Order: sequence, then C-alpha cells, then structure tokens
Amino acid sequence: MTGIINDLTKIVSEAFEECGYDKSLGTVSVSDRLDLCQFQCNGAFAGAKQYRKAPFMIANDVVEKISGNEIFKSVEMVKPGFINMTLNDEIILKKTREIESDINLGIPQAEKSETIVLDYGGPNVAKPLHIGHLRSAIIGESLKRIARAMGNKVISDVHLGDWGLQIGLVIAELSERNPDWVCFSPDFDPEKDKVNPIDVDELNEIYPFASQKSKSDDAFKEKARAITAELQSGHKGYIAVWKEIMRVSVKDLKENYEKLYVDFDLWYGESDANKYVDELIDVLNKKGLIYKSEGALVVDVEEETDKAPVPPVIIKKSDNSNIYATTDLATIIQREKDFSPDRIWYVVDKRQGLHLTQVFRCAKKAGIVPESTELAHLAIGTMNGKDGKPYKTRDGGVMRLSDLINTVVEAAYGKMLDENFESDEEKREAAQKVAIAAVKFGDLSNHIQKDYIFDIDKFLSFEGKTGTYLIYTVTRINSILRNLGVDDNQPLSFNGIYSDIERELLLNIILSGEAFKHAFEERAPSVICDNAYKLASLFSTFYHDNHIMGETDKDKQSSWVSLCILVRRLLIKHLDVLGIKAVERM
Ligand code: ARG
Repeated sequence: MTGIINDLTKIVSEAFEECGYDKSLGTVSVSDRLDLCQFQCNGAFAGAKQYRKAPFMIANDVVEKISGNEIFKSVEMVKPGFINMTLNDEIILKKTREIESDINLGIPQAEKSETIVLDYGGPNVAKPLHIGHLRSAIIGESLKRIARAMGNKVISDVHLGDWGLQIGLVIAELSERNPDWVCFSPDFDPEKDKVNPIDVDELNEIYPFASQKSKSDDAFKEKARAITAELQSGHKGYIAVWKEIMRVSVKDLKENYEKLYVDFDLWYGESDANKYVDELIDVLNKKGLIYKSEGALVVDVEEETDKAPVPPVIIKKSDNSNIYATTDLATIIQREKDFSPDRIWYVVDKRQGLHLTQVFRCAKKAGIVPESTELAHLAIGTMNGKDGKPYKTRDGGVMRLSDLINTVVEAAYGKMLDENFESDEEKREAAQKVAIAAVKFGDLSNHIQKDYIFDIDKFLSFEGKTGTYLIYTVTRINSILRNLGVDDNQPLSFNGIYSDIERELLLNIILSGEAFKHAFEERAPSVICDNAYKLASLFSTFYHDNHIMGETDKDKQSSWVSLCILVRRLLIKHLDVLGIKAVERM
C-alpha cells in the first residue's frame, strides 16, 4: 500500500506539471492547523521565484486542476498562496481499512532493502554492565527494530571490549591470588589441563580492585601490561583464563541484556578482529598511508575543512601493541568481508566522536569499504541525575545496571494495586515490563544526542508523555475489549466517522507510517515516541467522549470497537520498535 502523503503528493505534483510548473513543487505535508485543513502544499511560494508570478496565481491554477478530485472534501487557495486540502471521510476510512489489512500496518517498506550493521552496547568484559552502557543498548535496540520494521536487513553486534588492558589487570590479579593455578604454570597444556573455574561475583569484584591497585602499584601495572601483550600474541595459559573470564562474563552480560529485551545477532568482540590486523597494516602500507612517528605507526586523517585539529590515527603503539583504533579498523574489514553492508552505524557515547572520526576517515582513505558505504557515529548524550551531573550511586560510584533496574522494578511494583491482578506473580511480571517501559521511554523520547535527567517518579507517572502512560493506555483498551467480550482477531469494520475526534484519530492512524519513515531517516526513535503519545492521547479523548459499551447503534458500536482494536495493534507496534512490551493489566 502507499501512504496518504505519497498519494496526495502524486496528485498535486501532477497538477503542477499539467499547469506548466515544475513537478517537484507539489510536495504535500500534514497541516499544522487541523482546524483549517488536514494537508497543505506550499510549493507555490518556491514557484513564484522561478516563474516570476504571484504565489496565489500559481496556487489558484493548481487548485482548479485538483478540485474535481473526489478524494477531497475541500481544496482551497489561501492567500498569499497556500494550497489547503481536506480529505473526504470515505477516503480516510478506505485508507484505514488498507492499514488494517496490511501486515506491516501501513509502515512503508524500503524499495531496496539495505544491509545495516549496528554496533551498540559495547560493554567491557570483566566489568559489570553499568549505566554508561544503558543508553547505547536502549537506543541501538530501537534503531535496529525501526530499520527492520521498514524491511531492511540489520545485523546487530555487541562488540565486546574483550581484548584490552582490563583483561590484563584481571589476569594479573588472579595470578597473584592463585599462583598455583595450572594455567599460570609454564608447562600448561590446553589439550589436557583444565582451567580453574571463576565465579561471577569474584569477577565483578576483581576488576575494580585490580584497577585501583594499578594506580598505586607500578610493578603490578607493568605486570598487567605485559600480560595484555602476551595474551594478544597468543600465550596459551592466558588465553585459557581469558576464555574462562569470557564465559562467565558473557553469560552475565546476556542475562542483563535479556532483562532489557536487548539482543544481539553477533557476540563478537574486539578480539575477533585480531586476525584482520595484519591485513589492515598491509593495506595501509600498500596505499602508502602509514608512517612512523615517535616510534608509533600512524595515518594522517586531517582534512582541509576541519575546524578543530584531527590528529593522526595511531595504528600500532611504539611497543607494537594494538589499540582501540586498530581494532575498530580491523573490525570494519571483518564486517565488509562478512556482510558488505550499505551502512555501519555506531551507537556510541558522543565523547568518542574524535576517535570514530579518525577511524572512519582512515577506513575510507584505505578503501577498506567503498566510498558509498555509510559509516556513521550516532552519537549519544549522557544520562544525568537530578543534579544535572552523570547519574551516580548515592555514594558517588558508578551505578550497576542491574541495581538501577531493580530499583525501578520495585518502584513500579509499589505503584500498582494488587486488585488489578489475578496473582502476585502476574503483578511482578507486569512491574518488570512497566519498569523497562518507563526507563526506555524516558530515554528514547529525548533526541539521542541530548543529555537528559533520569527521573524515576516522572517516568513511572500514569499521566503525561511516559512509557507507563502508553502501556496503561493499552491495558485500558484490553479492559474495554474484555468487557465487551471481543477479541483482537475479529474482523474489523469501519462504517463511518461520527465525531471530529475520531476523524483526528483516524488521520493519525493513516499517518503513522510517516512517523516510522521519519524515525528511520533521522535515526530518531523520539519520532516514534511522539507519535505513540499522540495516538494514545487522541484515543483517550475519543474514549472519554464516547460511550462504547452503551451505544445502541450497531454500526457505530462496531466501528468504535474496530477503532479500539486497531489503535491497540498500532500502539503495540510502536512500543515494539521501542523495545517495550505491553501488559494485559496494570
Ligand atoms: N567498549 C567501548 C567502551 O566501553 C565502547 C565500544 C563502542 N563501539 C566501537 N566500535 N568502538 O567505551
């Protein structure tokens, strides 16, 4: 199916052309004054310059051409040159029926499906997931779902930080605590020796401990650095402990991401790119891009138009070790080989902007990806506490993600009434979903680059623009349908439009596809949040104004019930691409 904006743009563009004007002037948009008209075209203003003619004259020509079209209830020229259009109710109903029978619920499908690699999450192995990684997970998951809903192929990669100094620190500390472990013995044989198991709690405790220790103990720091280098060049014993650390840590990470309904197709890490580092150096050498500077191997990436300096990107440090940029570049080689993606999106903290700029420029210069491949940093802002500073625990530490979520789940549980549930188990389950909805919507409703304030009370409010309000709206529809004894799968019938609010609600339904399109084009889940909120608010007014249960006119009642069902499906679709799950009751 085609969206209504497309249909209208086609009609108006053709009219412009038939009147001898440029077709491209006929772009139609939704009116911002629904009381005046539903849609408008402002092309006559741009045309005025081109054709040296007053805009109202151009608009008049076009209006005359299209006014006979039965799709319109009214078309008029409004001075100085607007073209205002309002649809016939029959068309609104027809479009609504089309959406209802479309498996994509009117979400426009990409003409050419694109392959997009989405790099988000980026947690570091051996460090517990903390709230610094929350935004990337929430936003990346939503962008993945939006892009997929539009028919694109998206591959999500968690891109674990599993190869850096933090691992060396953990191994160094483990070796001091357990000098007798077989993996630390010089004759360790991975074929027959079993590594000693590591406990997740110890792992979570050991990194902060070792990191602290390295700050005051130079010998320890040096040892950790040496271990990191040996690990990276394949030391058998260290590889074996590293694998054990990975096993424990990844299991823990997966559990945490699962609670957030975040999942990844690939659980690759920085270590997986290691095998492409030689190829990277090779390519850079062949292109003559790499040179030695103060002992390190670097590539220039500055451009004439740079407003701030962009230093050369370091590929190998003077001790021959790989760094962050090396891994990111090698990973691009890997992704190009595996998927030849049209786009690679990095949902990463905005403070890593310079690093990613260097990496992207180097990749393009080296021809690791074609010029046409989009490498984009979808930079994200910080989640702040009420004091406006990055969110911290009460004692000023970094908040663990699991602790944060548990706090919100408890608060959500506390806000809901027992009597609304059939069992405590159901209430617990609902609290979990409401909490995630509150946290995610509180995040996603902001522009991704903006910093925002994490405010549990606000996010859990049943009123206003919150995730809680949205799933509450779904539960209200559930209860209407339960009381009427109808189920979601019954055939729908839209027989007429009986009030202005219904018309507005139906217009929003037939325009929802546009919201998905904009959200994708602008990489902005906030557009989905805005539309979902609008849909829910319009529904609430409609429900408040009309008594569905008591309605005796059967055509009217079945139209209204159909409206409830369709709004419910659409709201759930919006929530789904935000990574939020609805509940039956709350
Ligand atoms: N592990 C990194 C960190 O915690 C984030 C990784 C982001 N992704 C990337 N391809 N660089 O800062």
